Amino acid sequence: MKIYRTIDEMRAGVQQARREGKRVGLVPTMGALHEGHLSLVRAARANSDYCVVSIFVNPLQFGPKEDLAKYPRPFEQDVKLLEAEKVDAVFAPSAEEMYPHPSPKEGERVGHPVTFVEVPGLSERLDGKSRPGHFRGVATVVTKLFLIVQPSVAFFGQKDAAQVVVLRRMVRDLNFDVELRVMPIVRERDGLAMSSRNAYLSPEERRQALVLHRALMRMQAMADRGEHEARKLVEIGREVMAEEPGARLDYFEIVDPETLEPVERVGRGALVAVAAWIGSTRLIDNVLLTAPAGAKGPEMH
Ligand code: PAJ
Repeated sequence: MKIYRTIDEMRAGVQQARREGKRVGLVPTMGALHEGHLSLVRAARANSDYCVVSIFVNPLQFGPKEDLAKYPRPFEQDVKLLEAEKVDAVFAPSAEEMYPHPSPKEGERVGHPVTFVEVPGLSERLDGKSRPGHFRGVATVVTKLFLIVQPSVAFFGQKDAAQVVVLRRMVRDLNFDVELRVMPIVRERDGLAMSSRNAYLSPEERRQALVLHRALMRMQAMADRGEHEARKLVEIGREVMAEEPGARLDYFEIVDPETLEPVERVGRGALVAVAAWIGSTRLIDNVLLTAPAGAKGPEMH
């Protein structure tokens, strides 16, 4: 397994693979890898001949008061995990390598790139609402990764549902020649969605964090029993969240999974998304509602 630190080396590696007729797959990550990431890596291995995993904690997608400095970076451990998965190449550039532009302005941690990629509208929904500039940072870095690695196929997790919607739109609008594949959320045994940020949780917070999944499950159960009014379902979700005083709700929404616009009535495939603070850790989770066949709703006419 090769570890590339520079854009030039990464390009040379991938060009060699292409010359050999290999199909290139990419899994973009910020490291601190867990089974969620590894599920994407396995899918990439199965669907490509040259599998690249990028590890880059992208400063551009963190707000000034967010956890950039303390974000976990267990690089050696990540490398071991990826080696065991028989990944072909790891792309792990420095922030300066990715953003070598003019000197940082006062208070900024990296030089700003001159060019940003923005997906207006979608970027202001869900996490974008509480994290201004976040999806601009994601769209910009993923564009750079696509241009450097030029994958035929790239893998993302449904865990970050809004991210997937933003990136799908970006790929379509900018005619990227890359296929996006989205993999299901990988959970701990007790239902907690795996996240690099779970490492921040104390044992007590780890217990409190279960409330996100519990709220989603209650809403799914109510929808299965025929409650299709989004407002009522969200009310139930909020009630469950309120039972856990350690959790502070950021948003609870039921949206169309393609436009991220709020829906009034829940049909097949509505996206229920939640974000909450457990102590100083912000966690997200979501579920795609599956209305039972024959359920009454405007979409079923
Ligand atoms: P990161 O949070 O490291 O996640 C990398 C990929 O793993 C994302 O596509 C994410 O959705 C997926 N993932 C995380 N937890 C998962 C889980 N429990 N089950 C399934 N997939 C999971 O998302 C990012 O990094 C960044 O925004 C990035 C796309 C790399 C751009 O910087």
